[in-house]
This record gives sequence, C-alpha cells and structure tokens, in this order.
Amino acid sequence: MVVSEDRFEKQLVSVLYSPKHLGYETRPVPVPGPGQVLIRVSAVGVCGSDVHYYNHGRIGDFVVEKPLVLGHEVSGVIAAVGDGVAAERIGSLVTLEPQVTNHWGEQSRQGRYNLDPEVEFFATPPFDGALCEYVLLPSQLAFDVPPVLSAEEAALIEPLAVAVASVRHARVGLGERVAVAGAGPIGLLAAQVARLAGAVDVVVSDPLQSARDRALRFGATSVLDPVGARESFRDSSFDVFIDASGVEAAIVAGVRALKPAGRAMLVGMGADTVSLPLGLLQVRELEVRGVFRYANAWPAAIDLAATGAVSLSELITARYGLDQVEEALQAAQRPGEVKVVVIPKGHCGQWAAEG
Ligand SMILES: NC(=O)c1ccc[n+]([C@@H]2O[C@H](COP(=O)([O-])OP(=O)(O)OC[C@H]3O[C@@H](n4cnc5c(N)ncnc54)[C@H](O)[C@@H]3O)[C@@H](O)[C@H]2O)c1
Repeated sequence: MVVSEDRFEKQLVSVLYSPKHLGYETRPVPVPGPGQVLIRVSAVGVCGSDVHYYNHGRIGDFVVEKPLVLGHEVSGVIAAVGDGVAAERIGSLVTLEPQVTNHWGEQSRQGRYNLDPEVEFFATPPFDGALCEYVLLPSQLAFDVPPVLSAEEAALIEPLAVAVASVRHARVGLGERVAVAGAGPIGLLAAQVARLAGAVDVVVSDPLQSARDRALRFGATSVLDPVGARESFRDSSFDVFIDASGVEAAIVAGVRALKPAGRAMLVGMGADTVSLPLGLLQVRELEVRGVFRYANAWPAAIDLAATGAVSLSELITARYGLDQVEEALQAAQRPGEVKVVVIPKGHCGQWAAEG
C-alpha cells in the first residue's frame, strides 16, 4: 500500500442503529487491498433513501438489521492505493460510483451490472455508506473529477447518473414532449437531461410552488400543480413520462398523458404497489419501465456537469458537518431544501492524533 500522508488509524463514523437513533463511533481506517483506493471523503449528498432509512429503518425488503452507515452520493480525495493501482492517483479528487458488483454474474456480463443480485451498494443494508471520513472502493469506480467541478458538485454526479439512466432508458428523441412528475433533485436533473437529449417540451408537475419555480430554472418549459389531478398533463400528447415522485396519483396521471407508443419511466420509489389502467396500456401499446440506479452512466454525467450543460451547484441549499448528520437528515425533509450536503472536513487527522 502507498499512502499520501502521515499514518491515519482511526476515523469518525456516523452510524444508524435503528429508526431515528443515530450515533458516532470511532472505527479503524480501512487498508486498501489489491486494486482498491482509500478515499478521504470530501462531500456526501443526502438522498431521500438516507432519510427513509433514518425514519423507518427499511426500504421495501432492505432492512437495517445491524448498525448502518448512510450516504452514497460521494466525492473525496484518494489518500492511499492498494497493490496494482498507480501511486499517481493519490491526491486526486474523485467521484464515487457506489456499487460493487460481481463481474461474472449474468446481469453484469450483459452490461446491466446495476441489476446484479449480488451488488454491494453503499448505504443499502447490509453495506455501509460514506457518512464517515474514509471509504474503500475499487480504483475503477473512483472517477477523476475535472478541475472545473467542486467536491460538492462531484458528490452530486450520483443523482445526475440516475437522471442520465432514466433519459437513456426513455430513449428521448429530437422534438419529443416529456412529462416529469416531481421537482426534487431527480426530477430537476431528469428535466435538464431530457432537454439536452432533444426534448422540445418538458412539463414538470409538483404540488409545491417553490419546487415548480425551481423547475422553470432547471430545464422545464412549463410547470403544473398536480392537485386536482384531472388537470395534470391535460392532453395525451407526451412521448415520455418520467416519474420522480413515487406517488401513485402522479404515476397514473403521467401514464394517461402518454400518446400511443409512449414510454413511462418509473424512477420514484414510494408506494409498493400501484394500479395502472391496463386497457390504456394495451390500446396505446405503452411501455412502462422501472429504473433502478444506473450502469455505465458516470462518464456521461461527469461530462454533462463539467461542460456546464447541467447545473449541480445550484441544487445545494444547505451544508452540515460530519458531527451534524442528524440535523442534515432533518433539514433534508424541509420542503424548501433541494439538496443537503454533509462535509466531513475538520475531523480528518484529529482522531488519529488523539489515538
Ligand atoms: N429508481 C432509482 O434508482 C432511484 C434513485 C434515486 C432516487 N429515487 C427516487 O426518486 C424519487 C425522487 O427523488 P428526489 O431525491 O428528487 O426526491 P424528493 O422527495 O426530493 O422529490 C420528490 C418531489 O415529488 C413531489 N411530489 C409529491 N407528490 C407529487 C405529485 N402528486 N405529483 C408530482 N410531484 C409530486 C414532491 O413535492 C417533491 O418535490 C424518490 O422517490 C426517490 O426515492 C429512485
């Protein structure tokens, strides 16, 4: 192993024990094995799933049964490398694709490594995330960040990758009309990416006025309030619908808004089951597709952000330290916030010195 700085042995780790029960532990800094890099965490975006685990201790079949470290939207600086990784990588700012897969599994071999049943995804039980000071990752999943991007923006490559995957699956084409439900970070990024893919109309719905206002600054050509659902996406004239709300009424309204051969991408996670109008799906030959994370999306997401085609910094509305994770998770639930970011700096080295 090659290291960049004086020995670091202990780190501060934020741990979720059970719903609404967070604490801190000092844990050993892991040592990178062959092909791995040790990353000193610079920024972690708080995702709705982190909030969900904090509030409920589970998402669907994923249950927090042992202490879990949250956080999977991550950037950091390479602090040490394992055997087989170029020592020149040390000191590089990187954005982390937080999923480690079995390369030889059937899905991975088909290029859909996000669907590998053995995927180890950060902050999804039983795998720890990055609300701590140091994490390990295979070197190939730590992507160099162009100098124009900040560490905070680099952390938000992860939700941008979700938007890239959604728009790719939707096959948004030149001149198409796209409806998006939900103007949280995912909906806002999907709207921007859909415009870049050639959509001429991107209509975003959200019950919150502040979210609708924001959508107009992030790629939406128009917005609507879905309350009084009959009015939402009035005509059946959309080629693509992207749900980024997880709300059943929004999903049904979006599917109804599709014209024949339209494509619905269900990204939002909320209700476990949803009733869809089967007759409509049949007579219009609609496609309905679930979207689960991403595969091969990091390079495109980095380029979209680095060229300024997509704006990430404007999504950030609040910042907290690693010693304020509970405040960060609560802030992320306030309607006015878009993206809350945790910045662990200030702890690095301190624990090793005390050790
Ligand atoms: N499938 C995946 O891989 C994946 C990845 C990341 C996030 N997600 C999910 O995507 C969704 C969006 O993520 P986010 O971080 O932007 O969440 P968010 O909670 O910040 O945003 C959701 C938005 O939907 C709005 N909304 C609520 N009811 C609505 C309705 N009836 N019609 C339209 N909008 C409505 C809310 O006001 C909010 O602005 C979440 O459900 C999240 O869990 C899925």
